[in-house]
Amino acid sequence: MTKKAQLFLDKHFRIAKTDQRIYGSFIEHLGRAIYTGIFEPDHPRADNGGFREDVMMLIKELGVPIVRYPGGNFVSGYSWEDGIGPVEKRPVRLELAWRSIETNEFGLNEFISWARKVGAAPMMAVNLGTRGIDAARNLIEYTNHPGGSYWSDLRKEHGYERPHKIKTWCLGNEMDGPWQIGQKTAEEYGRLAAETAKAMRQVDPEIELVVCGSSHYGMPTFAEWEATVLSHTYEYVNYISMHQYLGNPDNNLANYLAETEQVDQYIKAVIATCDYVKARKKSNKTIYLSFDEWNVWYHSNEQDKEIAPWTKAPRLLEDIYNFEDALVVGLFLITMLKHADRIRIACLAQLVNVIAPIMTSPEGGSWKQTLYYPCYHASKYGRGTVLRPEIISPVYDTVQYQGVKFVEAIGVLSDDEREITLFAVNRSQDSLMELECSLNNMGELELIEHIVLEHEDIKATNTEENPDNVMPHAQGKTLVEGDKVIAELPPLSWNVVRLRVK
Ligand code: AHR
Repeated sequence: MTKKAQLFLDKHFRIAKTDQRIYGSFIEHLGRAIYTGIFEPDHPRADNGGFREDVMMLIKELGVPIVRYPGGNFVSGYSWEDGIGPVEKRPVRLELAWRSIETNEFGLNEFISWARKVGAAPMMAVNLGTRGIDAARNLIEYTNHPGGSYWSDLRKEHGYERPHKIKTWCLGNEMDGPWQIGQKTAEEYGRLAAETAKAMRQVDPEIELVVCGSSHYGMPTFAEWEATVLSHTYEYVNYISMHQYLGNPDNNLANYLAETEQVDQYIKAVIATCDYVKARKKSNKTIYLSFDEWNVWYHSNEQDKEIAPWTKAPRLLEDIYNFEDALVVGLFLITMLKHADRIRIACLAQLVNVIAPIMTSPEGGSWKQTLYYPCYHASKYGRGTVLRPEIISPVYDTVQYQGVKFVEAIGVLSDDEREITLFAVNRSQDSLMELECSLNNMGELELIEHIVLEHEDIKATNTEENPDNVMPHAQGKTLVEGDKVIAELPPLSWNVVRLRVK
């Protein structure tokens, strides 16, 4: 069965230029993200810093411009000083957030060295759970101050003559969550975040700060939390964080594919709350969004309950993603691109082994999970100016969501305005969708390629033995006549239609 949908774009109707940091990611001291993930000194492919070169290659290919570190929930119990200086002197700790053993063989300076090697900027979180202003101001003195003071000279002693100049900092993590070590009320957190921000800016006025929003849209204090926290911190911060994980525990595909509708609602609600505080303060400053944890996370929930505590690098949060998850990730990316005017940072959580696009086996190989592909395509072709889409599409209803468009799409114009890339998902389980695109004021176009990610088995996965089971092909069918483009979107597919101005 074939259905029809329409997409209207105009070169002059622009949402915003993308901030490349929306293709960021996240590495936490959690499970095997670091140990046997990015860092495995005894691995045959480890470099002189102990970093796995095979993994670095995949990360570079993914094009990750910024990586958040060291947590996540981990940061709320972390003493950053444990991870600096001679490795043999670093303490082994009980890590309470994930109930694991943290050896601290990998710490701040290793992270910075690794981030440089993969071409990513660091995005550092400070501990506002068990610690506060003092630890944060010392940390930034260590990382960003040129020298001539206790902490900056210690950095030099540790072999790092020049400051790391970390620009982007998170003021804690998910401080509203009952699971968080040192959970706080919005008032408590707002005050602490404001004072920490002030002290950190005294050390380095060039930094940018992310204040914690709610842990997710479903938090009972959502929006009230944002309003209160921002009322304390508005003057001192640049971004507010958003976190959201999706999943399909009930195995209801139609509903699962519609979950990004709620993500859209969530983004709009956070923007509205930021602007409410702006109005109340009669401020000219705009707060931007840092969607610094987003992904699918649910596959590993049950198996994680069986994992014994107090081991090093346990196999925690090792979700094995299937094809339908890749579609949801594609929809998530399109949803965020639609808000490119307010979302400046986004971090796929996470990067390696832990709810990740990249998997490794200890002493063994590394491979791409299904959701690697939409992230790769968006990062590679989704930089430029996002055009405002109008979509006319048949819709469907689920118990939770009504009027869900079968087709979700967005267009990104390259900086030289010679190329336009359309990203589109067909949510229909049985109909091919003929997407007629009117691309106004673009001139005459020609097709570069139409990449498709599709699979006859929605539960198909990639494994070490069969790493290419789910992978894109470039045999998509798109017809171009002048500024009219007709793309065939197979049922349940992620599509990347790349066009060039003739
Ligand atoms: O990414 C996994 C965890 O999810 C993070 O540590 C935490 O911030 C969130 O709850």
